[in-house]
Amino acid sequence: MTDTTARTPAASERVLIFDTTLRDGEQCPGATMTLEEKLAVAEMLDAMGVDIIEAGFPIASNGDFEAVAEIARRAKSAVIAGLARAIPADIARAGEAVKFARRGRIHTFVSTSPIHLAHQMRKTEDEVLEIILKTVAQARDLVEDVEWSAMDATRTPIDYLCRCVEAAIRVGATTINLPDTVGYATPEEYRAMFRAVRERVPNSDKAVFSVHCHNDLGLAVANSLAGIEGGARQIECTINGIGERAGNAALEEIVMAIKTRADVLPYATGIDTTQLVRASKLVAGATHFPVQYNKAIVGRNAFAHESGIHQDGMLKNQTTYEIMTPESVGVHKTSLVMGKHSGRAAFRSKLDDMGYQLSDNQFQDAFERFKALADRKKHVYDEDIEALVDENLATAHDRIKLVSLTVMAGTRGPQRATMKLDIEGRVVTEETDGNGPVDAVFKAIHALVPHEAALELYDVHAVTEGTDAQAEVSVRLRQDDRIVTARGADPDTLVASAKAYLAALNKLMAGASRLHAQHAAAE
Ligand code: KIV
Ligand code: ZN
Repeated sequence: MTDTTARTPAASERVLIFDTTLRDGEQCPGATMTLEEKLAVAEMLDAMGVDIIEAGFPIASNGDFEAVAEIARRAKSAVIAGLARAIPADIARAGEAVKFARRGRIHTFVSTSPIHLAHQMRKTEDEVLEIILKTVAQARDLVEDVEWSAMDATRTPIDYLCRCVEAAIRVGATTINLPDTVGYATPEEYRAMFRAVRERVPNSDKAVFSVHCHNDLGLAVANSLAGIEGGARQIECTINGIGERAGNAALEEIVMAIKTRADVLPYATGIDTTQLVRASKLVAGATHFPVQYNKAIVGRNAFAHESGIHQDGMLKNQTTYEIMTPESVGVHKTSLVMGKHSGRAAFRSKLDDMGYQLSDNQFQDAFERFKALADRKKHVYDEDIEALVDENLATAHDRIKLVSLTVMAGTRGPQRATMKLDIEGRVVTEETDGNGPVDAVFKAIHALVPHEAALELYDVHAVTEGTDAQAEVSVRLRQDDRIVTARGADPDTLVASAKAYLAALNKLMAGASRLHAQHAAAE
């Protein structure tokens, strides 16, 4: 039998990984991240070898601008890109934000398809060409590194697409992105589009071509790889495939496909694949978008073998049912289960194994929470520690904190919650009745922190198995056009519910209102 884990390419060509988790990913409803969460994600992406990080859309809000500027200041090796519509004010703002980077990029885009031109932009082809010439030139005056995207490229007639690409390169675009904005293309069509544009545009050798695929038909990864075969050398993707609608191509799937099938995909990325699972967990924790159990590469079941025949094969030889090793993506089957006798050294070594790098203060906080949990729970598993540390990082800057909660529940209502909160240093108490204990808890929060936000989702699941497992609660709140999701974990489901609701409120208060205008047409 062929050993599928040991393939090597004849000669591999480098493709650039452009991560847009913080822009296309973050712009999808409910995936909003706080500044701290964005900084943590950007740091992780930079450390794992992402070539270009699209850090946000600077004109969208002051919060977005600050996030892009701060990521730009901190980035060690990645290029930092800021998105801009084909509007002078957008481009100027993106230029201001990325100027702090050692290597900054302005990524500007405009629609090119007849559908978008007729219905969204109400412009002629010639008018859009004029816009491309002006805005790309403006961006190039501000930075050396300019990416131009033809939004809805896959539904654009090839002749017009070639004219646009030629114009963008002529006035200074160094990267040309041809997105499958609506996730409509098939791999063969996408490959052919890149081949045609690269062959027909006379100055195409002066730019790097890029793929950007949405997953509406589940083809985003296949299309991205086909685009590379068509000559593109940059892949735009997101951790866990988060993004508009059905999402973007998943970074971890692309990188592992290239690595595992090097025999037929002779390309190389600069990604340290052992960081993939950690990055997935970090993004899932920050966005509160759960990763489906059977998700390729990073799902909980991606390396689980349940059926007898598979288990038998695995015991005889791992390559019978595994085409890549769990270790290659950062899954460690650590046997060290923690408990109340575990000390600082063991806890620190566990965090190291799990890929966490905490400051001294963060470590101290996490250790205290771990000790408190171990007092209530016999075995503390990796999933418990993850929930605890992620919550610790997410709540470090919260304005409202839970001090204590007592709930009276049971068959004889009304159920009653007595809650104490610390609101920016002021401790306040409330006692509220409710139609069930969760209702009582949420009403107490409402009484202490009056707000207009509507509860859109309340979801509970157990972090591990067993009746003493921690409950992890997700809460989604909506206020006007802002939607936030947050999680709270605790062995007590009602405390976890209160933590989740408060985390969502904190998040709502932290973010300034933003424009969801990325996909709006340039005027
Ligand atoms: O999907 C898309 O077309 C985009 C552009 C802004 C690049 O996200
Ligand atoms: Zn997109």
